[in-house]
Amino acid sequence: MALSIRKIHPGFAAEVSGIDLARSLGAGEIAELRAAIDDRAVLVFREQDLTDEQQIAFTRHFGEIENSAGGHIAKPEQNRLDPRMIDVSNLDRGGAPLSRDDRRRLFNLGNRLWHSDSSYRAVPAKYSLLSGRLIARRGGDTEFADMRAAYDALDAETRAEVEALVCEHSLIYSRGALGFTELSAEERAMFRPVRQRLVRTHPQTGRKSLFLSSHAGAILGWPVPEARAFLRDLTEHATSPAFVYAHRWRPFDLVMWDNRQTMHRVRRFDEKEPRDMRRTTVAGDGPTIEQPQAA
Ligand SMILES: [Fe+2]
Repeated sequence: MALSIRKIHPGFAAEVSGIDLARSLGAGEIAELRAAIDDRAVLVFREQDLTDEQQIAFTRHFGEIENSAGGHIAKPEQNRLDPRMIDVSNLDRGGAPLSRDDRRRLFNLGNRLWHSDSSYRAVPAKYSLLSGRLIARRGGDTEFADMRAAYDALDAETRAEVEALVCEHSLIYSRGALGFTELSAEERAMFRPVRQRLVRTHPQTGRKSLFLSSHAGAILGWPVPEARAFLRDLTEHATSPAFVYAHRWRPFDLVMWDNRQTMHRVRRFDEKEPRDMRRTTVAGDGPTIEQPQAA
């Protein structure tokens, strides 16, 4: 079975076939996948019916698993999965869909907004790997936007303007955008904003990209409304149809993406029905910019 990589969008994203992610992979295959994710930023693997352990083992080929602490409001006793897995389902511990007004569900609705995973962490995530164990019957597509192409398409003046800008990212901003503002003092402290460069350069390819996310809610040195209006403009530009690949899930798809080069969002689906999606995340190598010293 030879590994093959087929482009599924003119600018980015590819479907990888001829590989079984449940078995142990050779160094050559991993090297090919690394090169493919650097180049295409989103990789789709079909028909990968993985256990959590197999998904974790595959993820570990690409680096350390990110610690999920500080990225959600669920209490430890509410967790359904191994702490190395991020539960992107709409399910409670008993496997039933969360009720409409469940706080965890409302918090998770933030995933409907364009974002880059963990951009609210001082060290933002490198890769995310999302496994579709039980997919939505209708809707629930995951859309990806190519932030390199978005950067390349900026006019020279805007490119110069964004070059040195630094944003503040926090879950408080993305949830606040949906009116989810009731956070405890503890949660507010946990979601304290972090700084991120607005333009980042991919360490392997040298390509620049816009590091946007709905978690971004301020630009250092800018009045807040002006910053948010500008970030909205940039996001609108960056997510225009030419830069977007919409992934229509089939059961047991595994989609891997590079958070340094893309944004993504999930589209609406019927949350009365179970949808079981499980994510593993590869931690980033370091911050995009130094953080201020904690007071
Ligand atoms: Fe996400």
